[in-house]
Amino acid sequence: MSVQTVVDPTNDLVEQAKRVLPGGSFGNMPAEVVLKEGKGGRIWDEAGREYVDFLLGSGPMFVGHAHPEVTAAVQAQVPLGTTFFGNNRHGIALAEAICDAVPCADQVRFVCSGTEADLYAMRAVRAFRKRDKILKFEGGYHGMSDYALMSLAPKRPGNFPRATPDSAGIPKSVADEMLVAAFNDIDMVESLIEEQKDELAGVIVEPFQRLIPPKPGFLQALRDVTRKHGIPLIFDEVVTGFRFAYGGAQEYYGVTPDLCSLGKIVGGGFALAAIAGRADIMKHFDRLAMTDEDFIFQVGTLSGNPVASIAGLATLEVLKRPGAYEQVFATGRELMAALDDLLKKAGVQARVVGDAPMFDIVFTTREVTDYRSAMGDEAKMKRLNHLLRERGILKGESKYYISLAHTEADVAFTLDAFAAAIGEL
Ligand SMILES: Cc1ncc(COP(=O)(O)O)c(C=O)c1O
Repeated sequence: MSVQTVVDPTNDLVEQAKRVLPGGSFGNMPAEVVLKEGKGGRIWDEAGREYVDFLLGSGPMFVGHAHPEVTAAVQAQVPLGTTFFGNNRHGIALAEAICDAVPCADQVRFVCSGTEADLYAMRAVRAFRKRDKILKFEGGYHGMSDYALMSLAPKRPGNFPRATPDSAGIPKSVADEMLVAAFNDIDMVESLIEEQKDELAGVIVEPFQRLIPPKPGFLQALRDVTRKHGIPLIFDEVVTGFRFAYGGAQEYYGVTPDLCSLGKIVGGGFALAAIAGRADIMKHFDRLAMTDEDFIFQVGTLSGNPVASIAGLATLEVLKRPGAYEQVFATGRELMAALDDLLKKAGVQARVVGDAPMFDIVFTTREVTDYRSAMGDEAKMKRLNHLLRERGILKGESKYYISLAHTEADVAFTLDAFAAAIGEL
């Protein structure tokens, strides 16, 4: 009789990771989470455990993992070459699809990550306005550049509009180039813009900041005051683009910025992001249209590569079909309502914050309208996430991403897991 030993392959991988990666991880998730395979709204780890996946690769896999049409499109392209540096027809078609979908987009420049898209969007408005300062919102996430890491997650928030760095290694001078305001506080933003209008290059905002919806009228008021002074408004739509609506948060909320950044969904699970916006600002990327002083020097090895472009195009084809967004919103609303109900019944002091395509629990009794009011009990949050992971639910630290691939069975499984985890909490 042969003896079968079942070993958890994760143990070796975790040990190996701890040797060769700082903190044993890629920086995104705990070292103990080693993922192997995804299909639709489910994911499996190296030990063979199955999860309903609300991490979705941190957002790109909006139509589900390994969607058959996206997979087929990529498989058709791979044998024909994966990157050329020069233009290719799929990248051109994707740029056209973005211009058709996104209200602010006259033109598009491709890059490989949301970080880059935001960095270049900020640079573009500086070039356009010939000024240096950028206004951002406390807690607003715009990637990992020196500028974006100002007042992203301050542990002890200081006085507005002073920016503080959230990472080591950022030159002190960067703080002087950024102004920080409170999300949803239009009086604060208006007075800051009035006061600083001659110094400001632009304003960057997540139209839906992390989990926090804009108050009615906030985005429009921001649009009005920036337009009044000719200051470009950038929407960071890396998360919301093609998620809140086919035209992104700008379509969903009915407010059109001058420029936006896109990422995640638009690359269909591959490394692709974009800056899109008004032709007169995008013109600064055009060597032939600009003088040396006004030209933005921007190249990237993998920019607009045909594999990522075709994956993005195939994803957009799926999203264009009638009912796609209705389905995502129905799933998200059902989960949000059920979570809220469970928390109330259990007498837990917490709120469900967000909107149907992305939301989470914040352990606070306050109304959540900005970064400071969103600071809840993080230890409790970590514990709940851990309890959920033990029960087959995978999510990021502070977000449920809903996908088109999540089924009724996934929802039912998740509700049972919620009930058990909240009971144990
Ligand atoms: C709103 C927002 N902007 C920018 C980024 C950075 O994108 P990337 O991780 O592709 O650099 C993210 C990433 O989650 C994001 O959520």
